[in-house]
Amino acid sequence: MKKSIFKRCILRGIALALGLALMLLCSCSSVTESEEKDLIVVGFSQVGSESSWRVANSESMKQALCEKEGVELIFDDAKQKQENQYKAIRNFIQQQVDYIVLAPITETGWDDVLAEAKEAGIPVIIVDRQVDVEDDSLYTTWVGSDFLQEGKTATQWLKQELTDRGMNEEQVNILHVRGTDGATSQIFRTKALQDAVKENNNWSIVSVLDGEYTEALAYEATKSFLSNNPGAIEGIDVIYSENDNMTFGVLRALEEEGIKCGGEEGIIIISFDAVKSALERCYDGEISLCVECNPLHGPRVANLIRSLESGNKPRKKSYVNETYFTAETLSEEIIEERTY
Ligand code: AHR
Repeated sequence: MKKSIFKRCILRGIALALGLALMLLCSCSSVTESEEKDLIVVGFSQVGSESSWRVANSESMKQALCEKEGVELIFDDAKQKQENQYKAIRNFIQQQVDYIVLAPITETGWDDVLAEAKEAGIPVIIVDRQVDVEDDSLYTTWVGSDFLQEGKTATQWLKQELTDRGMNEEQVNILHVRGTDGATSQIFRTKALQDAVKENNNWSIVSVLDGEYTEALAYEATKSFLSNNPGAIEGIDVIYSENDNMTFGVLRALEEEGIKCGGEEGIIIISFDAVKSALERCYDGEISLCVECNPLHGPRVANLIRSLESGNKPRKKSYVNETYFTAETLSEEIIEERTY
């Protein structure tokens, strides 16, 4: 809950008495401003800006957690490095923010820094990917996607699509493009694919490329795959790419080689996120399936903070409802309405 002015004054006094110099003085003046405006101070450690999804997520957080909504947001971009997230969280603790919001890059490695936040009495809200900690009292609540369900949506759709194409008995070769190793979205989208391969004897993953959720790395990985395995792409039936930006990188590399994707004849392309530009390419038939991953968590986090401020105890985990799109289910209106 938001700290009282009295408590903040005592904390500031102790800090000054300890002689913590310039940096602390700066943070104190920001706290003073928010005190004057009676704002809730929220420190948000964001993974980075690796994808269009992430950019939309940052925007949503900034819009929902703003002065107009009674919040002073301290936003930190970790540039895809966990060490930077540790630094940001420790800075937030030093600044005595009211809440810490963390979008963790991977699931592991959070026990120590979250224990420090707990020790400082600061509630932690986890958003998007999850944390794997020994003691789950180290965070207050989590909101995000059901990544395993997203993966199952993709593999169930694929099974049906292969049946519709009369390919359900044939050998099906899959090229798997993975997101950031150890991120919840990667772990569960990968698990869903691996489970489906075990269940379907005629499916096999012929190669795994690491794209770390970026277009540039997926492009490079696809280029290397093509040059190191001449002719292998001819045998690929499906590309399972764990986000849209990596899909764009893969498609660019394949296009340069004149390889056709989508439609009735081309490689089946499965992509996750369903950002506007992916929906457009799905509507045109180039991407076969867009599985939605909703990035608009700002209002959800704002509601959780409001609920905590009113003394309520939110659910430990809240999953967001999501859908999927194909050329058949899409329309110009749906694409037009997409804000990201
Ligand atoms: O954790 C969500 C994933 O992270 C999104 O699929 C991806 O685009 C983002 O970078």
